[in-house]
Parts: sequence; structure tokens; C-alpha cells
Amino acid sequence: MRVVSGIQPTGSLHLGNLLGAILRWVRMQDEAECLFFLADLHALTVNSDPAQLRTQVRDMAAALIASGIDPARSTLFAQSAVPAHSELAWLLQCTARMGWLSRMTQFKDKAGKNRESSSVGLFTYPVLQAADILLYRASHVPVGEDQKQHIELARDIAVKFNTDFDTDLLVPPEPFIGGGAAARVMSLRDGSAKMSKSDPSDMSRINLTDDNDLIAQKIRKARTDPEPLPENVALLEGRAEARNLVGIMAAVQGRSVEQLLAEHAGQGFGAFKPALADALVALISPIRSRLQQLRADPAALDAHLVAGAERARELSAPTLLAAQQAVGLR
Ligand code: TYM
Repeated sequence: MRVVSGIQPTGSLHLGNLLGAILRWVRMQDEAECLFFLADLHALTVNSDPAQLRTQVRDMAAALIASGIDPARSTLFAQSAVPAHSELAWLLQCTARMGWLSRMTQFKDKAGKNRESSSVGLFTYPVLQAADILLYRASHVPVGEDQKQHIELARDIAVKFNTDFDTDLLVPPEPFIGGGAAARVMSLRDGSAKMSKSDPSDMSRINLTDDNDLIAQKIRKARTDPEPLPENVALLEGRAEARNLVGIMAAVQGRSVEQLLAEHAGQGFGAFKPALADALVALISPIRSRLQQLRADPAALDAHLVAGAERARELSAPTLLAAQQAVGLR
């Protein structure tokens, strides 16, 4: 079992990233060989500021370590420090089909009406993501639900490459998605939109950097409905905001929504929200303190990334070479 996953170093890490991916990565470190990277090449697909990108890579590395990623056990690196990602991506661009990429919902969402003026990189983004995964012959890719289609595409690319070049080099990966609300944490302002770094409203998400008062304020102002909490999950149907808050609480406490409802049924949000804010503060405030300490020592962060990149280069070299040989380049 080999685990590979990445996060874009744009904006700050939020509760969706944490529950959907990072805290699950942390747990997987005990079970498998893990590689985690800052997807800085992917960050270039939308307008990015060069000076900001440099600091954000380091900042996101600090956020991952503060959340529990241990650079001594996991290989932690910046994607761009391992050129094999870009090199394999080119080979895979010649395998992936236009039709496959045209069906990617993330491209459609991000490009919106500006398809013609979107970067080509935004369109081929999922092929680079496939390279990230296939380069390490990863078996499991822990992600939030929004990335499922990209992992399925990586499977299709692997199968076609293997068939076209009569090889079993590339390992079709499994998306590994968390259960319950963790798979898709929704915005605090709109239960039909996912919590996201790019939402213009900061009140829509809880960031790792938010202080305790701000966390409590965001939960207090989170959109809900006037009904009390029901006895069972089925009765949350059609109450997207309520379901999201209950789901977040369940994920944070590592309990099922059923267990939680058994305890809170009949309660209104006036009572439930303070309990949720307390649970979030208990989760986030220790991570935030570690983050502050880690940020104070950029040289140590860079050293982790340098060591991680060296290991990732070693691990990826044989796959890249074999892929080049398979297509007839070497
Ligand atoms: P990114 O940077 O958008 O998000 C990082 C991880 O957080 C998950 N996530 C969520 N999970 C639940 N609820 C949410 N609201 C939420 N928002 C984000 C994402 O699913 C992801 O797991 N394309 C990827 C980065 C990437 C990658 C890869 C991932 C590049 N190469 C290879 C896996 C394997 C992305 O933009 O994630």
C-alpha cells in the first residue's frame, strides 16, 4: 500500500481540507508508506503571484506539519522540486483524450463562462494530477469527494497507457474518500456550495489561522434553519445547512451522525452552535499554536522540503524511465 496525495498551496488551509484530506493523511501515516506534496505547479493554472507562491509553499508545508504530518515518516515535498511530475505529465497528455478532459466538472466550474480565456494548464490540470499519482505507483489516494473524478481519470489514463504500450507499469489508483460530512464539507453561508479557499466570503469557511473568537463568530453566524435537530438522519433531508453543521460536529468528534442526533435531538441551533464552536476550537487551536511555532523557523521547513524532494526524486525516477522506455524515447 502506497499513499500519495497533494494540496494546492493557495490560500490558507480550511476545515474542508482538514476533514476531507489532511487529518485522514495523518492517520494513514501509521498504516502505509506516504508521500504528500504541495501542488505548486497546479497553483500556476490560475493567476498566481510569484512572491506569494514562494511563501505559500512553505506556509502550507507548515500547516501540514502542524496538523500532524510527520516529515520523518512521510515524504513531504513541493511538486515542482521533482521534475519527473512534469515529464510524465507530457507523456500522459499524449494518452489522455480531449473528450475525457472536456467532461471534468472542476474545469467547467473554474473556467465558467471564460473557457476561451482559461489557461491550457487549467484544462490539462487533471493529467498533471494523474502524473503525480502514477509516478509513485500509488495504490491509495486520500482526497475529498471533489477530487474523485480526477482520480477516476488517472485510472483511465493508467489503463489506456498500459494497453497502448503493452505494459503493466502504471497502477490504476483507488480514490480513498472519507465517510459522512468529511467527504464534502459545505460552506457555512450556503449549504449547496462546498467550503473552498476561493469563496470570496471568509465567513464561509473556518481557516486554520482563525483565532478562537473568530471561529465562534463564524459558527454563530453560520446559516441554519429555525427547526430543532431531528432524531434521525433521514429527517435532515432538504436541510443542507443543518446537515452540514451536524456532519462537521460528527467528523470532528469521530462519531456518527446518528450518535450525535441521539444526543442533540430536539435542540435548536442556539444550543447546538456553541457546542460545535467549542469542538472546533478544541480541534484547531492546538494546530494553530504549532503552526505559529513552525512559521518562526523557515530554515527548518525548507530543510524538510529539500529532504522530501530528494526522496521523491529517487522514488519517481524508475517509473519515469520505464514510461519513457515504454513509449520508445529511450
Ligand atoms: P485542493 O488543494 O483543492 O484540496 C486539498 C484536499 O482537500 C480536499 N477538500 C475538501 N474535502 C472535503 N470538503 C471540502 N469542502 C474540501 N475542499 C477541499 C480536496 O478534495 C483535496 O483532497 N487537485 C488537488 C490537488 C492535487 C492532488 C494531486 C490530490 C494535485 N495533485 C494528486 C491528490 C493526488 C486540489 O486542488 O486539492
